[in-house]
Amino acid sequence: MKDLIKKLTQTYSPSGRENEIRKIILEEVKDFIDGYEIDKLGNLIVWKKGRGGEKLLLDAHMDEIGVVATYIDDRGFIRIEPVGGISPYNLLGSTIFFPNVKGIVGIEGETQEELVKNVRELNFDKIFVDIGVKDREKTEELVPPGTFGVYYAPFIDLGERVVSKAMDDRIGCAIIIEVLKRTKPYHNLYATFSVQEEVGLVGASTVAFNIRPDVAIAVDVTSYSDTPKGNKRMSLVLGKGPAIKIKDSASISDRRVVDKLRNLAEKKNIPYQIEILLRGGTNAAVLQTTGEGIVSGTLSIPTRYVHSPHEMVDLNDVENAVKLLVSLAEEEGKLL
Ligand code: CO
Ligand code: ZN
Repeated sequence: MKDLIKKLTQTYSPSGRENEIRKIILEEVKDFIDGYEIDKLGNLIVWKKGRGGEKLLLDAHMDEIGVVATYIDDRGFIRIEPVGGISPYNLLGSTIFFPNVKGIVGIEGETQEELVKNVRELNFDKIFVDIGVKDREKTEELVPPGTFGVYYAPFIDLGERVVSKAMDDRIGCAIIIEVLKRTKPYHNLYATFSVQEEVGLVGASTVAFNIRPDVAIAVDVTSYSDTPKGNKRMSLVLGKGPAIKIKDSASISDRRVVDKLRNLAEKKNIPYQIEILLRGGTNAAVLQTTGEGIVSGTLSIPTRYVHSPHEMVDLNDVENAVKLLVSLAEEEGKLL
């Protein structure tokens, strides 16, 4: 799966600009599905028919956080605004990939005192992107205001662990692609690769309306607590298994979904952990409130340094998430 993860994470597709990643995902799954649709917002919906009469939906968002160019000064420096939850601290010193050119993020500071103050109180007013161009005109040609950029950061293979930008949530996409490839589902299996999660769960708000699934599961990244002085109120460990979410700050997983995943993991000897995320949410929050309501939950991959250019996951968790979801898709009998 490493090659697939590399291909997905290295693709440029910030929120609202998901064309490239959608093309790649469709290419990956097209020989393994019974049909697909791209809806009005750009969500990719694919399905695989089963013998059982119910519908299981797996969702991963295919967008990634980024920035948008807002203003260019006379010397060609670019000002930016966040697209999703991107921190100026993570941006500082990083490289930005715009479709035509790459740039370096710099910080203002005329004196040492001012520089220290700016670092301490860093915000988007204090940083700029430098694409190595000397004037406004040339910059406007390459990065006209309104251009979206993403982190430019390599895929790093550390063996059992891999690192890249956009693991959030291309790792969820990779898991669902792999499930589609490996499974002969008992019930009808739907997969949605949704748009614009990072700017407010936009794609997933409508994506399940026509499908009306009996159960929906968001597959996304979650936080970690297993680094020096990591958050002591959480217990998320890389490599200990995919995390079955109990709750985060946006949704409470349906208890039946939690029990189902838990029992299945126990039965199949698949390692898992229980997740309570202190801050953050997933598409489950809006899947749950679609139409007359959908029984929903989240399966998470513990991920270090989420929303930085270097998000780290453990491949054992990824593989076990695939196994658990394949088991769920193939299990005969009622979904709940
Ligand atoms: Co995110
Ligand atoms: Zn995410």
